[in-house]
Amino acid sequence: MWTFSAAAPRLNVENIRPIAHTPRTDRPFGIPSTGHLPALPTAWLDRYEFVTSMPVIGQGAYGTVYQVRCRHSLQPFACKVMQRHFLETRGMGAQIGAEISTMKHASASCRVVRLLEFAEERGLIFLVLELCPFGNLLHELGAHPGGFLPEERVRRCAEHLLQGLMDLHSFGILHRDIKMENLLVATGGSVKITDFGWATTIQQQARTDLAGSFHAMAPEILRGEPQTAAVDVWSAGIVLFHVAVGRPLLSVDIGDESTALTVRRRRLLCEIQRLCPLQPAARPAHVSESCWDLIRWLLTLAVAARPTASQALTHKWLTSTPGFHPTCGPALSKLSTATPTSSSLSSLRSSMASETALSL
Ligand SMILES: Nc1ncnc2c1ncn2[C@@H]1O[C@H](COP(=O)(O)OP(=O)(O)OP(=O)(O)O)[C@@H](O)[C@H]1O
Ligand SMILES: [Mg+2]
Repeated sequence: MWTFSAAAPRLNVENIRPIAHTPRTDRPFGIPSTGHLPALPTAWLDRYEFVTSMPVIGQGAYGTVYQVRCRHSLQPFACKVMQRHFLETRGMGAQIGAEISTMKHASASCRVVRLLEFAEERGLIFLVLELCPFGNLLHELGAHPGGFLPEERVRRCAEHLLQGLMDLHSFGILHRDIKMENLLVATGGSVKITDFGWATTIQQQARTDLAGSFHAMAPEILRGEPQTAAVDVWSAGIVLFHVAVGRPLLSVDIGDESTALTVRRRRLLCEIQRLCPLQPAARPAHVSESCWDLIRWLLTLAVAARPTASQALTHKWLTSTPGFHPTCGPALSKLSTATPTSSSLSSLRSSMASETALSL
C-alpha cells in the first residue's frame, strides 16, 4: 500500500488483490458495467462526455474505467472511477490521495500512463488518464492464436517495461503491482505502466507488508522481508515469462480468501523454489536461448544477485536489436538519474502526505 505515513498500514486480507489469471467475481461497487453511467463531476460537464458507443473499457478490483472524450476536441481519454466508501471500508482510504500523487510524479516517464486531472464528487473519485486504445497485455496475449507473443514483440515489451521501471526507481518509486493487467498498450504499441494503487516510495526503513498480486509477488515479499526495487524486477520477469511462453510461470492453486495467508504464501514459495532458477530444459522451443536467459536473470531468487532494471537493459538480447535505446527519450534525461536524490525523495514524500490530507 502506501508509505506517506510513518506507520505501517494494517494488513488486511481483503487488501490483497486477486491474482492475474483468476476470473473476477468481485464487482467492486455499484457502478454497473453497462446501463447507467456515473455522473461526471459538475466542473467537468462542459469539457468531458462519455463515449456512449463503448463506455466501459476496463474493470479492476478497485475501479471501473470508462472512455470519455473532450467535448471540444473530441479527443478520447480513459476515466478511472473509484468509490471512496468501498476503499475506506477496506482500510484503504489513505491510498487514494497517494495513488494520485505518485501517478502525477510518475507521469514524467513516457513509459507511464499519464494522469491528466482528477476530481471527487458524491463519494466517487475520478481520474482522467491518457487512453491506451489496445487495452492491457492480457488482452494483447488473448488476441494471439498461439497464446504467446512473437519474440520481437516480447523484446519490445521487455524494453519498455524495464525502461519504465528504471524511471520509476530513479524517481524513488516502487510500483509493487507489476502484472499483465497493469501494463497497457498505447498507440504505436508502446507499453505503459499504470495502476499505482500499491506503489510506495523507496525509503531507508524498507516496507515488509504484503503488497501486490500473489502470483507476481517477489519471494522476499512473500517471506515478509524488506522490499527494494528488486521486487518490481521480479514481477517484470513473471510478466515476460507469461508473454514469451504463453502461460503464467506460477499456476499453483493457493485457495481462496478463506485460506490462511501463511498457507497461500507457503504454496507460492514452494512453487517458486521448484521452478527457479529457470532450467534450460524448461525452455519451450519457440523461445530463444537469449530471451530465456534474460527472463531467468530477472527471476533470480537472491535479491542481491537480481539485476536492477537498468542492468537488465544491458542484456545482449535487448542491446543486439537495431534501434534499441536504453531510455525512452530525451525528455526523460533530466529526471532519470541513476538513484533518487534525498531531496527529490523528500519532496515526493511530502507531496504524497499533503495530497492524502487534501480533500480532492
Ligand atoms: N488509461 C487506460 N486506457 C485504457 N484502458 C485502461 C486504462 N486504465 C485502465 N484501463 C483498463 O482497466 C483495467 C483496470 O484498471 P486499473 O488497473 O487502473 O484498475 P484497478 O481497479 O486499480 O485494478 P486492480 O484490479 O489491478 O486493482 C486495466 O487492466 C485496463 O484493461
Ligand atoms: Mg490494475
